[in-house]
Amino acid sequence: MNFQIDLRSDTVTRPSPAMRKAMARADVGDDVFGEDPTVNRLQERAAERMGKEAALFVPSGIMANQLAVRLLTHPGDEVIIEAQAHIFHYEAGAGAALSGIQFYPLPGHRGILEAVLVADAIRTDEYYLPPTRLICLENTHNRGGGTIYPLKKIRAIARMARERGVAMHLDGARIFNASVASGISPEAYARPFDTVSFCLSKGLGAPVGSLICTSRDRFPLLRRLRRMFGGGMRQAGILAAAGIYAMDHNVKRLAEDHANAKKLATALAELPGVSINPDHVETNIVIFDISRSRYSPPQAVEALKKKGVLVVPFGKTLLRAVTHLDVSAKDIAKSIEVFRKIFG
Ligand SMILES: Cc1ncc(COP(=O)(O)O)c(C=O)c1O
Repeated sequence: MNFQIDLRSDTVTRPSPAMRKAMARADVGDDVFGEDPTVNRLQERAAERMGKEAALFVPSGIMANQLAVRLLTHPGDEVIIEAQAHIFHYEAGAGAALSGIQFYPLPGHRGILEAVLVADAIRTDEYYLPPTRLICLENTHNRGGGTIYPLKKIRAIARMARERGVAMHLDGARIFNASVASGISPEAYARPFDTVSFCLSKGLGAPVGSLICTSRDRFPLLRRLRRMFGGGMRQAGILAAAGIYAMDHNVKRLAEDHANAKKLATALAELPGVSINPDHVETNIVIFDISRSRYSPPQAVEALKKKGVLVVPFGKTLLRAVTHLDVSAKDIAKSIEVFRKIFG
């Protein structure tokens, strides 16, 4: 083996020489004083792309999500969420620990919730019930398999939430994947939400950073909470420059990642040891079942690794492969050969 194709996550990308050049040249200042011109530029750009009045640069997607939860709730409130959502599943219990809320997880179909189910889950106004204060959606949906949230379904949930006085947050870690694949603008996806987070360090290829976008009146509290969470950075313009570069150069090309993911899924579907419906692969995440093979997920991960392909186990019978800007169409062709050897 003389190659290694890393399909574990789209977070594994390394900054390109051109991105590093932009970082090295960045004009910087102390962002805790609001004086970093590159951070300010990134925040303006992000707010504009999401159609919001303000945006705040934070170190991670999890911090962006948890700031939204803290911003829009009080301890004892309830937050409706899909049961496989990143905020519920992968954020180390932060909602309870940092905001004192409880989640009400609802079953979705590949991560997508129906408005009727959400409407039924909103509590009535009895003093002995937890007040439903927030609904969180995820677009694209990671554990759902990179599913794009249909805009119609988002709007139906948002309309009902507005009528019932419940706020809406979008975990848009991969909102640009949704946008490029569907042709719907990030702004249209973001409009129904009070807060929207998105990541620079996934498919867009920046080393660090996420943004949380919201209204002007919510911005001062958001900034105070970032301080409280320890997320205020100083000469962060070096990182923001990577983010600006990523937004300028790495959005449209996400279509290549989607095409690579589809190619991989179509090839996997032909292997006797694998079950997958390639129609379910809408963006850059490929989740497939290997229960018909002779491997458990950890064994399969090891066998694939020995042949130069890295993936992650994803539950009792599943593996996940993610395409990204450091994986070419040629790499995908090579990885398909490896999958054939293991599962063919
Ligand atoms: C849907 C989703 N939201 C949030 C995050 C968290 O991002 P970070 O790792 O930057 O905290 C991830 C990370 O994989 C994710 O997939």
